[in-house]
Amino acid sequence: MRINDNFLELEDNYLFSTIAKKVANYQKNNPDKKIIKLGIGDVTRPIVPKVVEAIKKASDEMGTEEGFRGYGPEQGYDFLRNTIVKNDYKDLNIEPDEIFVSDGAKCDCGNIVDIIGNDNKIAITNPVYPVYLDTNIMAGRKGNIIYLPVLEENNFVPELPKEKVDIIYLCFPNNPTGTGITKNDLKKFVDYARENKSIILYDAAYEAYITEENIPHSIYEIEGAKDVAIEFKSFSKTAGFTGLRCAYVVVPKNVFGYTKEGEKISLNKLWNRRTTTKFNGVSYIIQRAAEAVYSEEGKKQVKNNIDYYLENASIIKEGLTKLGFTVYGGINSPYLWLKTPNNMKSWDFFDLLLEKANVVGTPGIGFGDCGEYFLRLTAFGTKENSIEAIERIKNANII
Ligand code: MLT
Repeated sequence: MRINDNFLELEDNYLFSTIAKKVANYQKNNPDKKIIKLGIGDVTRPIVPKVVEAIKKASDEMGTEEGFRGYGPEQGYDFLRNTIVKNDYKDLNIEPDEIFVSDGAKCDCGNIVDIIGNDNKIAITNPVYPVYLDTNIMAGRKGNIIYLPVLEENNFVPELPKEKVDIIYLCFPNNPTGTGITKNDLKKFVDYARENKSIILYDAAYEAYITEENIPHSIYEIEGAKDVAIEFKSFSKTAGFTGLRCAYVVVPKNVFGYTKEGEKISLNKLWNRRTTTKFNGVSYIIQRAAEAVYSEEGKKQVKNNIDYYLENASIIKEGLTKLGFTVYGGINSPYLWLKTPNNMKSWDFFDLLLEKANVVGTPGIGFGDCGEYFLRLTAFGTKENSIEAIERIKNANII
């Protein structure tokens, strides 16, 4: 058998696996050290009671003659698609059959490459969530990628591509920089896409952390976006579903791609075709759990958890700023983008933090070369650990 050679073009390991290995190795050699992990963006708050209740109820139903269900609709049950539209897309004219429920935004962002033609030019930001880049490399498009730098100098808002591109990946609030985009800035991308017949793949997984006005929660708040944008949303960071697995993609019926001959094809149709062929849907129990996130009590309980993480973000941000660090993000996002002191390379700073403070971050360069001299910290730890991490960094006299 001949392998897909494109895989040989990838870095040896996925970023977060490399970090996990390094940390496991350090722990093995230093078994008495208590490591605080603020690296991968994984949540720590338990699933909220309203969601637990829904899981129990749905499990009980599955154990009865009347309530048992086998395969569900590949695109998601109507009860969840309708609830998503009513709550997340109120007044935005998104329809239930434009929502595709899935087992995660990481999978969706990766799988979307299935419906993208091979010769498209792709723009991704730099630094970037590695999935967009790696999945395009796997599909053989390494040579088709251009980078849009996201830097201190441009306030972490990428400039429009200088050449014509067909696909633009955007993630806001941004992973990894933790910064937001205003409606005006996002509108420039939507206008660009409309003029150039490009498609925006918009990852809004961190939308629930937005605290400032004028930062859009969905790209469809921008006029004209419904013709050019696909949006990815997730229950992972919103409601702590990293272990339960549920997310969704919005593919409006007005978003079109083109054949070689210039014939217009609905991406909703293609994505539906892809989904029905390769996916058998998210389990009924988990979809009921996701539905419960939108109940009155569920919303309050989930908001409490988000506020908890946002408080951690401000504890970390203020603490590090007081120590003299420059820190971005953390206001509309659970991520903090910390400038390394004294121009230290990001892997060196990662090692130093691990050794001197037993705190794990994610080196900025792991997200692309424009992330060099930065380190990402997450606010998804416990409050106690967030406070202790700052204390340890202070005592380590790093700066
Ligand atoms: C991250 O740390 O960037 C996230 O956990 C990645 C993800 O959600 O897959």
